[in-house]
Order: sequence, then structure tokens, then C-alpha cells
Amino acid sequence: MTKKLNAAKKAIEYIRDGMTVGLGTGSTVEIMIEELSKKVKSGLNIKCISTSNRTTNFANKFGIIIYEFDSVAKIDLTIDGADEVDPYLRGIKGGGGALLYEKIVAYNSEKNIWIVDDSKLVNKLGNFPLPVEVVPFAARKLLVRFEQMRLKPIIRKSGNKNFITDSGHFIIDCHIGEIDDPKELEKELKMIPGIVEVGLFIDITDLLLIGYSDRVEVIEK
Ligand code: 5RP
Repeated sequence: MTKKLNAAKKAIEYIRDGMTVGLGTGSTVEIMIEELSKKVKSGLNIKCISTSNRTTNFANKFGIIIYEFDSVAKIDLTIDGADEVDPYLRGIKGGGGALLYEKIVAYNSEKNIWIVDDSKLVNKLGNFPLPVEVVPFAARKLLVRFEQMRLKPIIRKSGNKNFITDSGHFIIDCHIGEIDDPKELEKELKMIPGIVEVGLFIDITDLLLIGYSDRVEVIEK
């Protein structure tokens, strides 16, 4: 908790008055939103865009208004968490199931900051199951295909039903183990019809803030 809070507080230092800010999804982002709400209450004037219903509901609870993605011309800065980050600032995201909107918002942001605690750092991506968002119509066929590709796929469940993303898709978590070439794997998967998005985030993050219990490490790309 302290580690995430330290990273979250550091990220807020990059937010300036008048900015449009993208809010990621997850527990670390929620800690950041809670801190940010204090600044907003004391006069910080920003517009916020959300990457999930979960984040929208959480932000609203803390008095932060969420603007429609389409209503803003540009996003100055997006702050998000990650499930794994390697030394090249590449990451796996989607543990919370919000990878599609997270990637869209990140792609449309001038600057992207990730906030993580040190438990998220890895030398090679892939120990965290790679989330792949898929069209329900294609899900069964994709499970077979992923088995053939030795990706060790498991369809994500919520209770005894398939988990459904904010945009109405399913998620297949691939228990790959270490990924030798994340960029190549992303390319390969995105060629397959029915795959909407892959939880590999490459060449997206500009700044990584790693929270430790007593400090924050800042890594620039
Ligand atoms: C959601 C995500 C989150 O950023 C990721 O799961 C990290 O979450 P947390 O801060 O709770 O560890 O990608 O889709």
C-alpha cells in the first residue's frame, strides 16, 4: 500500500493546471485518484478521461468528473498501472480486464506514466498471464488456435460465466511463461481475426515510477 501510494503521489507531481488527464485502471490508479481528488477539491483544474467503468465509478465517488473520450481533442498525460514491466519499459496489462480502452487512451496521450510497486518488475515479460481480448464469436476457435501455438490459454471467468469486458468481449489469459520477443508476439496475435487487443504494451510508456516503501525510482524511456 505505501509503495503504491509513493508511486501515485509522485505521478500527481506531473499534473499541471489545465491538463486533460487519462486515468488508467486498477488498485494503484485508484490510490492515485484518491490523492488527486484532494488536489481537485483544493482548486486543481483538470479534465479527466477514464479507461473503464470501474475507474469512472471510482473517480465519481471521489468527486472527479469524467469527460467523454470523444469530447476532448487531446490527452496531455495518462497515468496507469501495469501487471509486469521489463527493463525496456514494455509491459503486460489487462489483469483488470481494461486493456482495450487503456491502450486506446494511452495511444492518444502525449505522455504516458506507469505507476507500479517493485513487485511488478521483471527481466522478461510473460510470467503474468498475457490477457488477449477477443470477440465472443471467435473465442472457441481462438482457444484451439492458442493451444496449437502453445500459449496455454484459459478463458477468464467471473463466477461461472465468462468475464465480459466493458466493450462486450471475452478475455483469454495466456500462461506463456517468458516471452522471448514481445513485439513479434503482439504482431503475430494481432494478425488473427477475432483478436481485438493484446495486453502487451510496447513503445507506449514514457516514464515509469517505481514505488518502494521509502522512495520512488523514476525511469525515463
Ligand atoms: C487493468 C490493468 C491494471 O493497470 C493492472 O492490472 C495493474 O493493476 P494494479 O494496480 O491493481 O496492480 O492493466 O486492466
